[in-house]
Amino acid sequence: MTHRIVTLPGDGIGPEIMAPTLDLLRELGDFEFEEHLFGGASIDAHGTALTDDVLVACRGADAVLLAAVGGPRWDTTDPSRPRPEQGLLGLRKGLGLYANLRPVKPLPALYEASPLRRERIEGTDLLVVRELTGGIYFGEKTRTATSASDVCSYTTAEIERIARTAFGAARSKVTSVDKANVLETSRLWREVVSELHSREFPHVALEHVLVDNAAMQLVSSPRHFDVILTENMFGDILSDEAAMLTGSIGMLPSASLGDGSPPGEDSTGPSGPGLFEPVHGSAPDIAGQGIANPLAMFLSAAMMLRHGLALETEAATVESAVQRALDGGLRTADLGGEASTAQAAKAVLDNIE
Ligand code: NAD
Ligand code: IPM
Ligand code: MN
Repeated sequence: MTHRIVTLPGDGIGPEIMAPTLDLLRELGDFEFEEHLFGGASIDAHGTALTDDVLVACRGADAVLLAAVGGPRWDTTDPSRPRPEQGLLGLRKGLGLYANLRPVKPLPALYEASPLRRERIEGTDLLVVRELTGGIYFGEKTRTATSASDVCSYTTAEIERIARTAFGAARSKVTSVDKANVLETSRLWREVVSELHSREFPHVALEHVLVDNAAMQLVSSPRHFDVILTENMFGDILSDEAAMLTGSIGMLPSASLGDGSPPGEDSTGPSGPGLFEPVHGSAPDIAGQGIANPLAMFLSAAMMLRHGLALETEAATVESAVQRALDGGLRTADLGGEASTAQAAKAVLDNIE
């Protein structure tokens, strides 16, 4: 069976890490890739970061693979000008992808690549479950010459569905992260998570931790966490912080999943495509040099194989090839080494079994 994948290389290092990822996937199975402009590249061609055609193409695919968008070329503080990131937000919303999974499992080969001491990070195996289509990212925005506002709002239904994802993924414990000492949205979040917990998941341990404390504990005792459940913006920030446990932001993959229906519609239909992308951005500071770490992108492709296409064996093949390449000494610049993107890709390909 051929799997139809829409690929969105995007901007900056995006195309540099997408190309070797497709080479890797071609080694593993029968895939049909359909590439589209997205983000800044789409703004240049069409004046908007996400065209209707591309959204329709994504809806019709088995999975969507994205590298990264954005860059100084499109940076602006003028709210009337298009931004690459709007494409990403539009795609997540347009595909109803409310659940963003960001696994953080430092590999032993990279313990020394982290700025944190080995004793702190070893054994860490946590999952950030980030709400992806609500909160301050999607509330009303206002701007005048002298003031600006971003509304943060959540409904019980939005909180309940992401909490269900988190409890479902937990092996032992869910740490729900909020700012309930200050924010009304967080107080609703806490109530809804607690009620769902006692109703449907009493066998899973639940704790509530304030976000500032959670940021501290992520580096002081990362082994403490199993699943971290949190809202859109807190999840964005905490996952970049957690990336450093693995040695580099260039190592962290993600999967964004929904239940197949556009927002507001009944969610009983067939499952729609997921979106798979590294946690990092377009790294404009190193773009064009051929030195980007492609491993977060490879591991995102592995998450696509597992969560998007139900190809567990192939997913595990990618993950063990990455692990073996690192065991064999592969280090890109972000990990303190000298391997180029091409050398890193070759090292992983050579370790496919
Ligand atoms: P970034 O993640 O792009 O880069 C942060 C730092 O990490 C940089 O020093 C960069 O060189 C390094 N880095 C990131 N990925 C790397 C990799 N694979 N290999 C080696 N080094 C890597 O964050 P930023 O600089 O704040 O953002 C740059 C642009 O990317 C912005 O326009 C931002 O909006 C966008 N962005 C996009 C996404 C996405 O497309 N999903 C995610 C985050 C940021
Ligand atoms: C991420 C990115 C995006 C986010 C930006 C580019 C809109 O930082 O995927 O983590 O904030 O969600
Ligand atoms: Mn981010």
